[in-house]
Amino acid sequence: MTINFRFVSSVRRFACLRTACVVVLVTCLATVAASDDVETLAFTETEIDRILLHGPWPSELPEDAGNELSGIAWAEQLGEALFFDKKLSGNGTLSCASCHQPVNGFADGLAVAHGVTQHVRNTQGLWNIGAQRWFGWDGGADSLWAATLRPLLSPVEMAGDIPSIADWLRQKPVAYQAFNEHRRYQSLPNQDEALVVFAAKCIAAYMRTLVSEPTAFDQFRQALADEDEEAQSIYSVSAKRGLKIFIGDANCHACHYGPHFSNGEFHDIGRPFFTGVGQVDPGRYSGIERLQEDRFSLTGLYNGTKDQNEIRKSTSVRKGQVNFGQWRTPSLRNLLLTAPYMHDGSVLTLDAVVKTYVHIDLQRLHAKGESILRPLSLSDSQIADLVSFLKSLSP
Ligand code: HEC
Ligand code: HEC
Repeated sequence: MTINFRFVSSVRRFACLRTACVVVLVTCLATVAASDDVETLAFTETEIDRILLHGPWPSELPEDAGNELSGIAWAEQLGEALFFDKKLSGNGTLSCASCHQPVNGFADGLAVAHGVTQHVRNTQGLWNIGAQRWFGWDGGADSLWAATLRPLLSPVEMAGDIPSIADWLRQKPVAYQAFNEHRRYQSLPNQDEALVVFAAKCIAAYMRTLVSEPTAFDQFRQALADEDEEAQSIYSVSAKRGLKIFIGDANCHACHYGPHFSNGEFHDIGRPFFTGVGQVDPGRYSGIERLQEDRFSLTGLYNGTKDQNEIRKSTSVRKGQVNFGQWRTPSLRNLLLTAPYMHDGSVLTLDAVVKTYVHIDLQRLHAKGESILRPLSLSDSQIADLVSFLKSLSP
């Protein structure tokens, strides 16, 4: 009996001891996690200032350079109808929306676009496109309406021609009547071309209305601005850690700047020049050439602005060796809708994108003078945090 009692009581004591140990261990772990959270969740004044620069959302759009139809409701409606109109293409099978699909962030989910023939570049998403000043991965167009004429006429996209597109537009009473009411266009020498430019300006007016919804990041940023700690706590800890890296050590915000997470400028981040078909895609270098040759740029006949500053931006660009391999910094909003990534769609996931910054080829970049980037030393969990943050920029 006694032995039994002693045995039971020692078993009980052991159980108590074990419970106590477990409690101590759990408390220890919780303290470590909590101190980790406290350490990574607090943002310094400088960090808060940097975060606030990525908003508010939606942000104000700049002028739609040279488009006098921008912001006019009937032009936007007409432009929307034309955006989905396959008859604008050379073979009648492709509309803008064939590649810029609304459910895919106005991209197509493919590595490179399939137009009338095979393209070498990835289809860009069109959410928030009104915020840009240079269009295309290489900035080859200086206005949204010029960037609309290019796919209409490009042999690798819709492969249309001006007389056929004009013929089709004349059969659309709404479009043709609106065109005829604009006296400025009646005095232009080539009426077919004037009608197609008019339609492109309507499509551009529609695209400017594509503004995406606020995201988890925007709510967090607003909570920081309002100093509302409860609202700040809703944003995930992992995204907060990723944000800290983004605006801190990794210096991503140097290029992915402002509410759109793009400075609108051109940079080389060391992606290969070679295309799938073994040719070289020189990026911004060819974009400047395209701009200088483009009859539909802001320096041409169809420009609707008298703003000399806007025009000077287009006349003052000069190409140099440094432009080889540069691409316009993409916005980081809505990335969950627009995989695969980069100008050639060569990177499949956000995890893989972040790893390209870990393995940057410094040798190549230094030869080209890009001094902002250096290979990042990030642990797997830091990479995961950066990815969580990037995901929080999609609604
Ligand atoms: C065959 C697929 C395809 C079709 C059809 C197409 N696009 Fe695109 N779009 C692309 C590709 C690819 C790019 C990137 C082009 C480049 O960098 O040279 C692009 C780029 C753009 C851009 C620039 C985006 C940015 O962020 O700078 C705009 C604007 C645009 N397209 C509008 C249109 C409009 C409007 C139409 C219809 C008139 C259209 N696209 C038809 C594939 C397509
Ligand atoms: C020197 C300027 C610069 C810096 C710094 C920079 N980026 Fe980029 N980023 C670019 C450019 C330019 C591209 C497009 C390159 C291409 O298409 O080949 C790009 C592409 C991307 C893309 C793909 C977007 C898409 O739509 O295809 C993501 C995601 C991205 N960067 C995230 C980051 C992150 C995260 C960091 C920090 C670790 C960072 N970037 C630092 C300039 C920069």
